Amino acid sequence: MEWEIREERFKEERIPALGNRFLVGNGYLGVRGTLEEYTKTQLAAVNLAGIFDQVGDGWREPLNAPNGFYTWLKVDGIIYRLPGEEPEEHCMELDYRHGIFSRKTVWKTERGMITLKTERFASLDQVHLCCMRYCVSADFHGEIEIFTGIDGDVWDIHGPHYGRFEIEFPDRGSRMTAVTHGEDQSVTVLERFRTDFPCEIRERSFDKKAGHQIAFVSDGCSRYTLEKAVVVFTSRDEQWDMLRGEMILRQFERLGYEGLKQMQIQCWENLWKYSEVRIEGDEEAMASLNYSIYHLLSIAPREGKSLSIPARGLSGQTYKGAVFWDTEMFMLDFFLFTDPPAARKLVKYRIDTLEGALQKAESYGWKGAFYAWESQEGGRDACTDYNVTDVFTGRPVRTYFRDKQVHISAAAAYGILRYVELTGDDSVLEEGGLRAVTECARFYDSLLLKYLDRDEYEIHDVIGPDEYHERVNNNGYTNRMAKYVLESAADLLERYPYLAQKLPYDAGTLTERFRDGAVHLKLPVPDEEGILEQFDGYGKLEDASLDEVRGRLLHEKEYWGGANGVASHTKIIKQADVVTWLSLFPEDYSRDIQKKNWEYYEPRTEHGSSLSSCMYAMLACRCGMAEKAYPFFLKSAKADLTDGGKEWAGLVYIGGTHPAAEGGAYMTAVEGFGGLRFGKNGPEVKPCLPKGWESLQFYVCWHGERYLIKIEKEKWEIGKV
Ligand code: BGC
Repeated sequence: MEWEIREERFKEERIPALGNRFLVGNGYLGVRGTLEEYTKTQLAAVNLAGIFDQVGDGWREPLNAPNGFYTWLKVDGIIYRLPGEEPEEHCMELDYRHGIFSRKTVWKTERGMITLKTERFASLDQVHLCCMRYCVSADFHGEIEIFTGIDGDVWDIHGPHYGRFEIEFPDRGSRMTAVTHGEDQSVTVLERFRTDFPCEIRERSFDKKAGHQIAFVSDGCSRYTLEKAVVVFTSRDEQWDMLRGEMILRQFERLGYEGLKQMQIQCWENLWKYSEVRIEGDEEAMASLNYSIYHLLSIAPREGKSLSIPARGLSGQTYKGAVFWDTEMFMLDFFLFTDPPAARKLVKYRIDTLEGALQKAESYGWKGAFYAWESQEGGRDACTDYNVTDVFTGRPVRTYFRDKQVHISAAAAYGILRYVELTGDDSVLEEGGLRAVTECARFYDSLLLKYLDRDEYEIHDVIGPDEYHERVNNNGYTNRMAKYVLESAADLLERYPYLAQKLPYDAGTLTERFRDGAVHLKLPVPDEEGILEQFDGYGKLEDASLDEVRGRLLHEKEYWGGANGVASHTKIIKQADVVTWLSLFPEDYSRDIQKKNWEYYEPRTEHGSSLSSCMYAMLACRCGMAEKAYPFFLKSAKADLTDGGKEWAGLVYIGGTHPAAEGGAYMTAVEGFGGLRFGKNGPEVKPCLPKGWESLQFYVCWHGERYLIKIEKEKWEIGKV
């Protein structure tokens, strides 16, 4: 398999999409797949994990660091850059086996041809470091200038965040510290370069940019190489200062670009050893799936406290850099199966942010932990009450994601419980995990409603995964997850009495309440056709087809949900909802019921969220419908490889990478097609491979052991490694 994606020729309109597709990252930062000469206009960005700022009433969003890759080329006073000077040849590549981005561009100048080849990576070994190589060759004698430096005029959606810049020029490099005027956060970028040719070097700073002008005369046959290291640290990083930055730069001086690149290759090879999924017989599936895995590996936090993965990874400020249920329900399994310490970090994020969840619950008058729908550091909810802008009036629309999407707490609890179940490492429970799960159960307990004349509890006024129908009663998915949390919390309190004792509650009373809640909580039951009603009254909504509903749109960016949305009063749903429930709890209903619900809901699903397809794929596999699952699987695996994903919700830009779809594709491959389950003695499989797949092979961790699983059509092997 080729571990490369390539884009030939330059098309200006593809710049935003390629910025996502060719991203390199290391969990600390993500460098968009943009060219060295790009500025904020082309959405160039070095997006940072876990550091946020708010300007005025704008949305609070993560910071983009000053761009230390900023470099351009000048011949005879003309800057050769894209977009701008039409190239003779242009190509971009991403070696996603090793996280290395490269480009080649050839321009025809008045004097002759000039070729630019660059390469860069975000170091996995040292996450504060990025490296770049910039090679110029010209088939003419002439004066050439390169400008290389740091661009502080960054792309912001709700900015500008930086109000103050400090610039210095140490030997062969620049330093820029940018300070935000909103929350006084600072980001420092150090760059150091080296050249292998005689040149004149001059410092320059202009328009929030600082760097060096490197002038030389080309001899018509040589290659002129500039190597550069970029170090980034922020006011959120503990024990970081210039001195530490300088030490990393010295490593670059010692090893050079090539030495550091070899380390990068080694680090990625180590990661792939147990992450790669092999599929014989279907190159496209294998390549797309491993490309998806590449993204997950590039954005997983490795250093730093209390970090998780934002919904758009590290591809920019979209979705406010916030963590959603996407992490636990769609991405966590990949890390649990391949790298449990990374999974532990994700789970710890929810434990560390419990305080924010307790405060949120209290602010709404509930008990326990109501986790943030869009979680930023400390568990603060970045979701606003007006999260969509109406395309017709330009006015903010009241949305209820923040206050009514209560299933988020179940996702937080699910992550912790699943981690303990699959790793056997219950130390997280001691480190606050038991408290967090208990608080989630207290939250659901406080949401329960009871009619005096009925023996059932209900949960009203929520939004399930299908966000187009707001403020509904008894959403099946939400109630099922609440039941699971109540049951699991009761089990934990009984299994860990010494931890339960430390809680500020009477464990016995809580256990009883939780059990009672779990037993009596209303869940939809299949109707005579076997269909589970997504929420009370769903069955009475207009049964218009997807095309009909789409045809009613008055504007292509119009929001489908909310008070006036085209889908709200119809049965058209945004994403898998009942199907998510059934794919998580297949034991709840027979295969026949699962299948009926799949067939009922699929044509009524817009798949307006990239989280939808994989859940349909998973359930189709569970129903033995591998061929039906396959296109949904491929769509999920190619979420960032194909054009056409939704980029707008009303007037809000939501473009970026789609890690939940990527994690979902992985889940479908190993748990869907592979049929992976965990029994008392470890992993088991019940495969259901699609037609073209001759074999499927992957590693999986369970209770401290690693297993290699090889599946062929009719047989399989599971061996401890
Ligand atoms: C989906 C949510 C998801 C969010 C972030 C929304 O469009 O409806 O389920 O959590 O995007 O990916």
